[in-house]
Amino acid sequence: MNEFLTLNNGVRMPPIGFGVFQSAPEETTAAVGAALTAGYRHIDTAAGYGNEREVGEALRRSGLARDEVVLETKVWVSDYGYDETLHAFEKSAIKLGVQQIDVLILHQPMPQHFDRTVQAYRALETLLADGRVRAIGVSNFLPHHLDALRKQTDVVPAVNQIELHPYFTQSAVQRADAELGILTQAWSPIGGITFYPGWGENRRSVLEDPVLARIAQEHGKTPAQVMLRWHLQQGRSAIPKSTNPVRIAKNLDVFDFVLRADELSSIDALDRGVRGGPDPDEVDPSTWDLEIPEA
Ligand code: A2P
Repeated sequence: MNEFLTLNNGVRMPPIGFGVFQSAPEETTAAVGAALTAGYRHIDTAAGYGNEREVGEALRRSGLARDEVVLETKVWVSDYGYDETLHAFEKSAIKLGVQQIDVLILHQPMPQHFDRTVQAYRALETLLADGRVRAIGVSNFLPHHLDALRKQTDVVPAVNQIELHPYFTQSAVQRADAELGILTQAWSPIGGITFYPGWGENRRSVLEDPVLARIAQEHGKTPAQVMLRWHLQQGRSAIPKSTNPVRIAKNLDVFDFVLRADELSSIDALDRGVRGGPDPDEVDPSTWDLEIPEA
């Protein structure tokens, strides 16, 4: 079963959550509804995805009590700064239709304007102290970003959500997270970023990797399930995205088999050290042009 992970401030979240990156708003309510029906109790969205309203709608339609579901969302960079981020919380909470957000994180560092990143994080600390959020964290932070943040803020992030799949395992970031007591959360945990259209040429889909195919066949599982089990056994949070109800349910059906140590190592060995997503140190300034609408 989906045993809980405990964050560094005692908040608990299931290790397998549900992602809605690139889920079109019109598909999101149905996808999140299917996820909640399948048994997911952690939903990860972001102000920048433009689908927080639909996530909230699915939560309300499910009839589940608010405290049964961990809701996580992210502040987009154009809302960084102390007052701006306090306001970003209000926008997200209203769109989600909730009083309190469980996990609120910074979407990515803004290396060119790290002072604004720090101010944004200070606002998260205030929201945490005021009980408006239950845990705070970051995303796409490299070890030197974590170091710089730690020097200027008080609360250790509860999570660091990073690109992490067998072709890009970011062991240095995972080590830095572990040393600080930060939970590593994997985005694109089954490697969607290795085959999403429009994210670069000549990529190889990790879903078609022969090593994963062999392990999957041995266990009577799919490569996606093997990858999710790998995250689970290595203590990470993972948030696979799907809009297909069959795949949504299958991605949560990973509690009836165990990967051996040699299988975990052969998956670790697939790492190519090449990211599929943007480099957190080379944030395209045009990303700052994305304005998050008022609620
Ligand atoms: P779809 O929404 O049509 O299911 P990631 O979360 O690693 O970024 O991966 C998401 C991508 O993987 C999406 O394109 C999603 O498409 C696809 N996907 C999700 N679950 C599975 C699965 N079990 N097998 C194959 N593809 C999957």
